[in-house]
Amino acid sequence: METVKRIAFATDHTAIQIRETIKNYLKDLGYEVLDFDFCGGSCDYPDYALKVAKAVANNEAYKGVLICGTGIGMSIAANKVKSVIAAVCWNEDTARLVAEHNCANIVCLGSRTATVSQICHRIKIFLETPFEERHSKRIEKIKQIEKMESC
Ligand code: RB5
Repeated sequence: METVKRIAFATDHTAIQIRETIKNYLKDLGYEVLDFDFCGGSCDYPDYALKVAKAVANNEAYKGVLICGTGIGMSIAANKVKSVIAAVCWNEDTARLVAEHNCANIVCLGSRTATVSQICHRIKIFLETPFEERHSKRIEKIKQIEKMESC
């Protein structure tokens, strides 16, 4: 029997209209969704980037999905957490490449820069694309940077 994979998920207020559609899409793909809901109103994206990043770093979730206006703020914040590689995807190619080349474990998307169907499609590509081992040396070098006290 295949284990259900859990996805840590959060958005800020810019994605309030589309967050349920995206959650349901993930469930339809067969994932369990660990949703860090901001419960209405306005919120600060770093708070939710941190929740998802911690869940991925602590192996409570297999991968993460973060959505803010552009995906950029979420990615900047999530990348502060050790062992997280969060990447913004602008199109289908970058959704594939961040998984294949960069070993990203969190995908960040923009509610103001893409339609909900583009967002869903990019998430699917990201989740279904395996990392290519030939890029391992470069990912190890990223991890080495993480270990440096100052650079
Ligand atoms: C919120 O207005 C907006 O700044 C945020 O969603 C995001 O785009 C930041 O990167």
